[in-house]
Amino acid sequence: MCGIIGYVGKKEASKILLDALELLEYRGYDSAGIALSAEDKSSCKLIKCAGRVSDLRKRCKEADVTGDCGIGHTRWATHGGVCDENAHPHRFGKVTIIHNGIIENYGELIEKYGLEQKLYSQTDSEVVAAVLSHFYEGDPYAAIRKTVLKLKGTFALAILFDDIPGKIFAVRNVSPIVAASTRDGAILSSDVAAIVPFTSQYFVVPEFHVICLSKEGIEMFDLSGDKANIDWLTVDWDVSRSDKGGYPFYMEKEIMEQPQVVGDTILPRIKDGKPDFTAEGIKDSTLSDCKRICVIACGTAMHAGLVGKSLIQAMIGIHVDVVMASEFMYNDPVVDKDTLVIAISQSGETIDTLEALKFARKCGSPSISIVNVKGASIARESEHVIYTCAGPEIAVASTKAYTTQLAVLYLLTARMAMARGLWNDEKLNAYMKELMRVPDVMREVIARKDEIHHIADTMLNAKDVFMIGRGLDYSILLEGSLKLKEVSYIHSEAYASGELKHGTIALITEETPVIAVVTQDKLKSKELSNINEVQSRGAKVILLIKGEEIPEQEKIWNSIFRLPVMADEFMVMPASVVLQLIAYYVSADKGLDVDKPRNLAKVVTVE
Ligand code: M6R
Repeated sequence: MCGIIGYVGKKEASKILLDALELLEYRGYDSAGIALSAEDKSSCKLIKCAGRVSDLRKRCKEADVTGDCGIGHTRWATHGGVCDENAHPHRFGKVTIIHNGIIENYGELIEKYGLEQKLYSQTDSEVVAAVLSHFYEGDPYAAIRKTVLKLKGTFALAILFDDIPGKIFAVRNVSPIVAASTRDGAILSSDVAAIVPFTSQYFVVPEFHVICLSKEGIEMFDLSGDKANIDWLTVDWDVSRSDKGGYPFYMEKEIMEQPQVVGDTILPRIKDGKPDFTAEGIKDSTLSDCKRICVIACGTAMHAGLVGKSLIQAMIGIHVDVVMASEFMYNDPVVDKDTLVIAISQSGETIDTLEALKFARKCGSPSISIVNVKGASIARESEHVIYTCAGPEIAVASTKAYTTQLAVLYLLTARMAMARGLWNDEKLNAYMKELMRVPDVMREVIARKDEIHHIADTMLNAKDVFMIGRGLDYSILLEGSLKLKEVSYIHSEAYASGELKHGTIALITEETPVIAVVTQDKLKSKELSNINEVQSRGAKVILLIKGEEIPEQEKIWNSIFRLPVMADEFMVMPASVVLQLIAYYVSADKGLDVDKPRNLAKVVTVE
């Protein structure tokens, strides 16, 4: 989950590392550190501390360190608490490393190499530095090869050797590393976002390959020492999308970008008015031959899958399971060649989703992944990949990734209907026309942001917020509730309104705001009855309803937001933007760190 960065070149490395760490902080923000290699072959200069990158910046200023080659790390603690000693980089002998991942056999290694009394930290990472140092006799490749063969677990390692100044070595298993040549040297990172300011050409370091970065560029070798070819990729992200663009927080900026990026995701995939996945190489037979679908994903991406399930079951009539990837392996999954597996992931690196996908492929399932980050592990592991065009999503709370995932699911549903000969032209045209309206409808909602801000203000002091709805409305609320709790720290639960009477209604008091979403014609009367039930128990009802559906005089709400009208299946899009903005305003107005909520990290690469 940690962010890693390495730079060698003609510029001041400490500045590049610190700037990049600020960008990478969303991966973890318990502690941070940098190490700069010393040209005179003395010990690397190391500065690290518990706290944010801003704290590290102050320490670096005080220490006045300079250099042209170094590595940096921002940590999400796994082994060992949050303190200066456990911050990376870690040094042992002539070796200095940063690590992302988990070394499962660190205990065995401590015993085997007699390290008990020799370590300063409680981390598994320092053990790797010690083992590397044990094997290092002047040949970095030999030491790295011998070390990685001893490691069990996941790792992305960037390494400096005191006596090889000006060179950074790196190797990985599962945890990501991308690298690129710059005008005057080379850079590596856990994330493409950190290298976008330098170049648009990059590559994903293959597992168990060793790279060496220097001012001359990058060389790559496999573990047997043979030189390996690099497969270059191109970032098609706009660099300006990686900064806050004048907004106080990335989350707000990313919410506002949605009309644009949802359009960017949909429009290139429409040919002659029809959804088209030729560019992705997805044949109609992949969509028509499967007997069932299994969606695997975590968190927000899993919530996108739930919307996909409702769409596909209603429109195609085949069974769809949505499985939390973290639970997939523990329920004896039944997937086979007739099961189309759809893996959804913004980062493309979520370890549980990746492992579930690998398992499904071993069982012979055809697979499609919906991923935002180009070249990510999940994209590479699946048979087909459909990239969302959200651009870098920096805020920990996912917003534009979610709605672009939905956009892909809408397109896939329509293509599946075509492939199975289920819709006539009239039905397809009406659906596609409505899909193409989505960006404008989102713009309409965003233009009414002050109304939404006002609603959010009524919730600032709430301890608990319930969210109720049925069917698709319930799926939207699961995501709305996750957004609210992760950024505002208000306890929130989305509840299927029909289930409320089976226990949870006991928690409704006059203090409890209840957000109710009513967008589906066929569910409306039942949903309105459920709203009456909570209102008569004193709840403060915040109603998000499609258009003018209920007249003003039936005042079953305390606040209301009338959503722009779309066909029922597309109402998810405007409703989601409202729920995202509510969560955002509550968090910002409470003075919280919206983009970096406590305990979280953007990319979850540990199980
Ligand atoms: O990168 P992924 O989409 O695989 O991440 C999955 C979840 O960790 C992620 O959606 C998480 O729930 C969101 N950041 C919450 O806003």
